[in-house]
Amino acid sequence: MSSEYLPGLAGVPATKSNISDIDGEKGVLAYRGYDIRELALKSSFEETALLLLDGQLPTREELDEFDQQLRGERRVKYNIREIMKYLPSTGHPMEMLQTAVASLGMFYGGDEIFSDGYQAEDDYFIHSMSVKIISRMATIVAMWQHVRNGYDPIEPRSDLSHAENFLYMLHGRDPDPFEARIIDACLVLHAEHTINASTFAAMVCGSTLASPFLVIAAAIGTLAGPLHGGANQRVVEMLEEIGRPENVKDWLDMKLAEKEVIWGMGHREYKTKDPRAIVLQKMMVEWIERKGNLSPMFETALALEEACEKELGPKGVYPNVDYYSGILYTEMGIPADQFTPIFAVSRIAGWMAHWREQLSDNRIFRPTQIYTGEPAREYVPIEKR
Ligand code: COA
Repeated sequence: MSSEYLPGLAGVPATKSNISDIDGEKGVLAYRGYDIRELALKSSFEETALLLLDGQLPTREELDEFDQQLRGERRVKYNIREIMKYLPSTGHPMEMLQTAVASLGMFYGGDEIFSDGYQAEDDYFIHSMSVKIISRMATIVAMWQHVRNGYDPIEPRSDLSHAENFLYMLHGRDPDPFEARIIDACLVLHAEHTINASTFAAMVCGSTLASPFLVIAAAIGTLAGPLHGGANQRVVEMLEEIGRPENVKDWLDMKLAEKEVIWGMGHREYKTKDPRAIVLQKMMVEWIERKGNLSPMFETALALEEACEKELGPKGVYPNVDYYSGILYTEMGIPADQFTPIFAVSRIAGWMAHWREQLSDNRIFRPTQIYTGEPAREYVPIEKR
């Protein structure tokens, strides 16, 4: 057995998976073999989620059935709303989301996990849990926008798609079709990304046969950090701090001299520009063509990307998915602290797919360590220390 220690498990395979694949040199990401650039243009979140869960593009009937199931599971129990009301409005929405999703488990169970091995009939249980959680994650994130401001949340509508209903519940008005299309594409783009930190957390928790709500709560906590999903919020705060494109050079020189991280840049897997960032950047251009440019944020981001290319490009550090997503959400009037929860509303599809894959051939994760502590020594009574 190899005892080589690789910090951050960089390059260490943690599992065998057929869900998604990254070519970090060419900058390609595919879900179940389908390039995400094509999925972002042609698919919907509902279809992509089912593709991730089941492994195949669904037929029209399968997609309609799944869509109806999601629409039917949008409401959350009154008690969840009450729990949310008692959370402080100053808390981060990711903490609220983790609390609310873990609380869902108290109401919807999910403990009947298979200690006796995975059977074909377990697919039904896994599917129904996936529908429940995927659908309600969007509801909870949108509800929080109102609950934290002291208002009653807006009831979900069953005549809208997943993305449309999310925007409707968030903003409280009929969604603009173009904005709904952009959100839908963002949900497709963020839905899955091989064994990233939050997916790994879900797999580790799932491998203990914990309930799916706890599995997802573990993943939400892991996504929250600024080195992972929390970066999208930091990017917008960073661009606001820079202010205008002409400030980029001095700002960047200062940050690099202080060895600070440039948010939204760099990725363990990509040594070129993240393909999702390319799609998001194109969507940003389309947005400006249709709606005009409301702030200098996009120009500042372009200038920063150009300046970073000279400084960080030689290290293989280029924009990642978080670089442009927050700018789009800002233009839609979404507060910055809701960006990472929106990431979770999408990534839930990948987490559930990996949970299912983990259970289908489960062995509890239990890595080893290289002990660097004291050798065996005798206990000293407290009065003799
Ligand atoms: N800003 C400045 N320098 C960066 C950088 C960034 N965002 N990302 C990587 N680098 C530099 C590192 O300092 C290191 O330089 P060195 O070789 O001179 O020491 C080199 O690039 C390699 O980076 P490393 O930290 O080993 O990469 P990693 O794979 O461990 O980390 C991230 C990957 C994503 C954690 C890292 O790129 C990062 O912190 N990015 C910003 C946060 C972010 O946007 N996260 C979202 C990811 S989707």
